[in-house]
Amino acid sequence: MYKIAVIPGDGTGPEVVREGLKVLDAVAELEGIEFQKVIYDFGGDRYLRTGEILPDSALDEIREMDAIYLGAVGHPQVKPGILEQGLLLKLRFSLDQYINLRPVKLYPGVETPIKDKGPEDIDFVVVRENTEGLYANSGGFLRKGTKDEVAIQESINTRRGVERCLRFAFQYCRKRNKKRKLTLCGKTNVLTYAWDLWERVFQEIAPEFPDIETDYAHVDAICMWFVKNPEWFDVVVTDNMFGDIITDLGAMIQGGMGIAAGGNINPEGVSMFEPIGGSAPKYTGKNVINPLAAICALQMMLDHLGEDKAAARVENAVIQICVRDIKSLSAGKMGYSTSEVGNLVVKYLKASY
Ligand code: IPM
Ligand code: MN
Repeated sequence: MYKIAVIPGDGTGPEVVREGLKVLDAVAELEGIEFQKVIYDFGGDRYLRTGEILPDSALDEIREMDAIYLGAVGHPQVKPGILEQGLLLKLRFSLDQYINLRPVKLYPGVETPIKDKGPEDIDFVVVRENTEGLYANSGGFLRKGTKDEVAIQESINTRRGVERCLRFAFQYCRKRNKKRKLTLCGKTNVLTYAWDLWERVFQEIAPEFPDIETDYAHVDAICMWFVKNPEWFDVVVTDNMFGDIITDLGAMIQGGMGIAAGGNINPEGVSMFEPIGGSAPKYTGKNVINPLAAICALQMMLDHLGEDKAAARVENAVIQICVRDIKSLSAGKMGYSTSEVGNLVVKYLKASY
């Protein structure tokens, strides 16, 4: 029996999580797996009501669970940064989820903005460091509010943090067993301290993985190659900030935020799975948002828990709906409501037996 913390969150988060849980219940029954779900109402509404974002008592409960399923964070009445830092980043940091795993996979039937590229060309994974870099909250102000003000935002790269991320990426690339190619994405030509460390550790570890081809690309160039030659990539490893940026680009080439999912992974602890788009407040309650990204996040959770068969069934059901039913993945243009998409996924899950 798995114990899962469910945080539907803000905006359309609850609507997409509802469909994800519908799919979870269906696949669990088909595969004979049991889940206990503990729902937490964290997010903007609770914060506005009580001033509380993520109580330590809840964090301690979650530490004992098997995984977290998150909807979305971000509320129009809450100043940007408060919920992101207090909920999403706090969970990532407190639970030491040091990898952010973001598959960029174009499913058949899904339209990509890249002309002449198809599912055989767009299938790679970004391994983003998830606890350090510019996200470490190191820095400060000098002479704040004066015309001589200085704002400092430092990128923290620890030997331990860099090494564990790179090791994860090499191992993941081996396990994935596709092109067996790992690309380090950095900026060695300008950021000569941080990327010197990353590159040295990369070179140092590489001989332990003779079966993995290694490559390097600057972050600006990789934005160009993702669009021009996505078929070159298999696994890309990078720091927190670059990973944040290039995975939004990745999400677009795989068909958009309607389908892009990610996992915040602590291989030795509790991991968290989420659609990578935001809370899309303007669509809240309209039953038009695409739940497939949340369903893909659920598939990643099943895969992470070792439920390979259940994960494969969910992925296959998502592919069926992309091939047969949905014409556009954008909110309001799917030709189906949020709940109808969830129902279709459940239908295909059952049909695959
Ligand atoms: C993401 C998001 C977050 C990030 C924000 C909401 C803090 O953009 O998961 O990519 O920057 O990591
Ligand atoms: Mn982002």
